[in-house]
Amino acid sequence: MTTPLPSSAVLGARAFATLAGLNRFSDEPGKLTRLYLSPSHRQGAEYVKGAMEVAGLTAFIDAAGSVQGRREGRAPGLPAVMIGSHIDTVRDGGRFDGNLGVVAGILAAQAIRDAGIALPFALEVIAFGDEETVRFPTSLSTAAALTGRYDQGWLGVRDADGVMLRDALTAFGGDPAGIAALARKPGSVKAYLELHIEQGPVLEAESEAVGIVTAIAAQGRAGVRVTGEAGHAGTVPMSLRKDALAAAAEMALALEAIAGEHESAVGTVGVFRPDPGATNVVPGAVDFTIDYRAPKGATVASMDVEIQKRFGEIAARRGVGVTITHYSRGDAVPMDEGLQEALANGIARTGSNLTARRLASGAGHDAMEMARLCPSAMLFVRCEKGISHSPLENMTELDAGIAIRVLIETILELARREG
Ligand code: HGY
Ligand code: MN
Ligand code: MN
Repeated sequence: MTTPLPSSAVLGARAFATLAGLNRFSDEPGKLTRLYLSPSHRQGAEYVKGAMEVAGLTAFIDAAGSVQGRREGRAPGLPAVMIGSHIDTVRDGGRFDGNLGVVAGILAAQAIRDAGIALPFALEVIAFGDEETVRFPTSLSTAAALTGRYDQGWLGVRDADGVMLRDALTAFGGDPAGIAALARKPGSVKAYLELHIEQGPVLEAESEAVGIVTAIAAQGRAGVRVTGEAGHAGTVPMSLRKDALAAAAEMALALEAIAGEHESAVGTVGVFRPDPGATNVVPGAVDFTIDYRAPKGATVASMDVEIQKRFGEIAARRGVGVTITHYSRGDAVPMDEGLQEALANGIARTGSNLTARRLASGAGHDAMEMARLCPSAMLFVRCEKGISHSPLENMTELDAGIAIRVLIETILELARREG
């Protein structure tokens, strides 16, 4: 017995109920913090695996910690259309960033199964585990496991508590030695689609429920260590200080200035750790992070040069040392034109009041990495005031449902194109 495709309202209600179930799992009570390979990530992965199985997918948690689900098409072993996003979050993050896209893929698969539709391709849903790269200095590592670009050196990096990624992965139930085998053969994934909240104000400002991503911004990330001389806060004269924190603070302001000098660029210092971090001690060292982005890769390359130059000047003038360790560098990634058209068709089939608004993404996504493997595209959905990476992140149930219905219609559009 088949059932017609659910309405956007029904899909939205299902999405919010599933998200409520998933977001019970956090490393911090009262906040949503689900870091890669943490106990709450394991619980969340188990929950997602169960939801995938209810939706008719054969599911497993892979060697890198992602959850993979698959439903065969008209014949076994066909190339797959993959729907994905991530279930790791930033610290004290929002309920929808990443999580919505995974739940959307599951609900889309379930609706297509319930409608008795046999697709001319396999349908896969994946819940990546390391998109935010908050815990470890990696770069979209779980997506890179699928594209065959996993850097084995990542296994040796440590989190802020000194835990090595390899050990955390083994304790999680992953398999460091099994990661290389996750790489997909070219052609085995014919398309990757990611549904994600916009994390910006454009769609809301233009009263649009959904939008199609044209490209994802270029970005650079690095850890910076400034080393000066620790000293007694009461006795070291200002003229003799090699204050690492004052130097690092000047560098943070320099990053802000550099971003202001480059077209549509942004620059952020998100982590700032003085050492030893005591009231009456002149800081001897500071570790901080820099995250800088722009729509064009050339702009980020120019920022790279400026950062090295200005940070070096500040360090020399203040008599401190500075080392910049880059650990993530992504060029701007255009989204596949053909899939953008399929999304536009999916939008048209979902609602005559919807338009196929195109917009760029300042935020990074797993789609940046997946685009190395196969044609990839993203559907954005409106979120309240564009707020994200915050517990205030919010959206309406109906918008979630509309976006999931667009995703379903897009999958059916791809099936029609196969004939
Ligand atoms: O930082 C980003 O752009 C993404 O949310 N990880
Ligand atoms: Mn995200
Ligand atoms: Mn995020």
